[in-house]
Amino acid sequence: MSKIYEALRQAELDSTKRTLEDPIVSQNAGDGVNTMPDAVLPAHPVNLAPTAAPIPAASIPQPIPVATIPAPIAPLHVAPIPVAPVAVAPVDEPFAPDNIQQHVWVPSLHQLPSLEHRGAAVEQFRSLRSRMQEFRDLNTLKSILVSSGLPQEGKSFVAINLAISFARHKANRVLLIDGDMRRASLHKLLGAPQGPGLTEYLAGKATLLQTMQRAKPGDSGHPLPHGLISLVFIPGGLAADKAADLSGNRRFNRLIEDVSPYFDWIVVDSSPVNLVSDGVNLARSCDGVLMIARGGTTKYMVAQRALAELKASKVLGFVLNAVENPPQTGGYYGYDGYDKIED
Ligand SMILES: Nc1ncnc2c1ncn2[C@@H]1O[C@H](COP(=O)(O)OP(=O)(O)OP(=O)(O)O)[C@@H](O)[C@H]1O
Ligand SMILES: [Mg+2]
Repeated sequence: MSKIYEALRQAELDSTKRTLEDPIVSQNAGDGVNTMPDAVLPAHPVNLAPTAAPIPAASIPQPIPVATIPAPIAPLHVAPIPVAPVAVAPVDEPFAPDNIQQHVWVPSLHQLPSLEHRGAAVEQFRSLRSRMQEFRDLNTLKSILVSSGLPQEGKSFVAINLAISFARHKANRVLLIDGDMRRASLHKLLGAPQGPGLTEYLAGKATLLQTMQRAKPGDSGHPLPHGLISLVFIPGGLAADKAADLSGNRRFNRLIEDVSPYFDWIVVDSSPVNLVSDGVNLARSCDGVLMIARGGTTKYMVAQRALAELKASKVLGFVLNAVENPPQTGGYYGYDGYDKIED
């Protein structure tokens, strides 16, 4: 029995060995030679069916048919997402001069010779004022932009002293605007706050009244200098970096139109027109432009170029500023003390 067993076992081992060496043998499993089960050497490709049973169709959730939405179909209401406005423009309040805020100004007197009682500068600004009045007799003239080709020629100096000269004459109501928004300086000469000012107004961030200021007597008890009593000031403001965009803003034109009925003169300082276009833009809204050339400094070509830049505006003429030997008139003609009461 054990020999038979041994023989069978040996035959089985031999058979297995042959089958492994020659798979064709396995394909003849039905002929009785190969006794190995099919599962060991599959004759057919392995069935790679997924092990998970397929989900019966009935169990897949059916999509809700669009047609079942009850009619009438309410329009989809998409609630607007509230967006905070970038800049909240205050509603422009009606301009009332009596409501203009007052500040204690600390004027830089040595730069404001037109506040003095007498002297060559007082006389020259009085003379310039008369020329402007003569222009007005012939043309519409209330708003004057003071300009020049280059920096340091005296635009701000002339603008503020001319405005004071206007203001001390018959208590003219005068508005002085610092239109040199890039390098505002008039607030320093007046010792006044820099803003809110023109940039805030043009950007829609301040109303006219919020930008305007006038002088208030200080604690010293001294009365205000005559030339400051009826002077109203709009400083350049605090957003100097936006000057280029703002100067072309239509709000400047509206500003001039809105305030004109309340003032006798409007004087606007500006930046140098040969370098930046701000002054040219503001000039379009003014009745005339007063050009400045500095004695011994301003070159003819610079002045010509400035004139060309302002060709779209009415140029009133040139002021030759800071000449070495200005004509002396005051003392000679006996005007000393003339303007102690009124200029
Ligand atoms: N007639 C003058 N007498 C004395 N000082 C003057 C005179 N004109 C101008 N200045 C002085 O010269 C300097 C330059 O003047 P100002 O600031 O008015 O020039 P500007 O043309 O406005 O210059 P910017 O374009 O840089 O604003 C100032 O210190 C000013 O006080
Ligand atoms: Mg200036």
